[in-house]
Amino acid sequence: MSGVWLAATAGAAETRALGRRLGVLARPGLVVLLAGDLGVGKTCFAQGVADGLGVSPGSPVTSPSYTLLNIHQGRLPLYHFDLYRLSTVEDLEDLGYDEVAEGAGVTLVEWADRLSTPLPCSLRIVLRRVDADRRELRFEAADEAGRNLLAELAGAANTL
Ligand SMILES: Nc1ncnc2c1ncn2[C@@H]1O[C@H](COP(=O)(O)OP(=O)(O)OP(=O)(O)O)[C@@H](O)[C@H]1O
Ligand SMILES: [Mg+2]
Repeated sequence: MSGVWLAATAGAAETRALGRRLGVLARPGLVVLLAGDLGVGKTCFAQGVADGLGVSPGSPVTSPSYTLLNIHQGRLPLYHFDLYRLSTVEDLEDLGYDEVAEGAGVTLVEWADRLSTPLPCSLRIVLRRVDADRRELRFEAADEAGRNLLAELAGAANTL
C-alpha cells in the first residue's frame, strides 16, 4: 500500500457507501480532510461517514450555510467542519479546532485547502467530477494511522 488509493463512484449512493465504510473503520482521533470543487460530493461522503459511525438520521449531516462546525453523536463523536466561509485562521482557533482534532472523536474538514497553512491529518481525500454522476476519489494517507486505514478500506472495497 503506497499511501495513495484511487476509487471511482457512479452516483451519490456509491460515494455515501464508501464514506460509510470509512465510518465503520474509523478509530478515535482520526482527522480527514475533504477537498474538491463546489458540489463535487464532500458532504455526501461525510453523510456516509456519519452513517458508518452510527449517527442517528435525526442528526443529519448537511452543508452548513452559516455554521463552521456541526457535532453529531455516534459510536464516536463526529466533528464536521466546513471552512468555506472561514475568513481567518483565528476563526478556526475560536471554534476550538485544536482541542477537537486532538481529541478522541472523528474530525472531517471540508474546504481545509482554503487555509494557507495545511492542517495536520491522517487522510486527505480529493474528489473530482468526471461527469454528472461519476466522481474520482483520491485517498492520500498522511501518517501511519492513515496508511493503516487506507489498507483496510481498499481491502474491504476489493472484497465487495
Ligand atoms: N458520484 C457522486 N458522488 C457524490 N455526489 C454525486 C455523485 N453524482 C452526483 N452527485 C451529486 O453531487 C452533489 C454533491 O453535493 P455535496 O453537497 O455532497 O457536495 P459538496 O462537495 O459538499 O459541495 P460544497 O462545496 O457546496 O459543500 C449532490 O447533489 C449529489 O447528488
Ligand atoms: Mg459540502
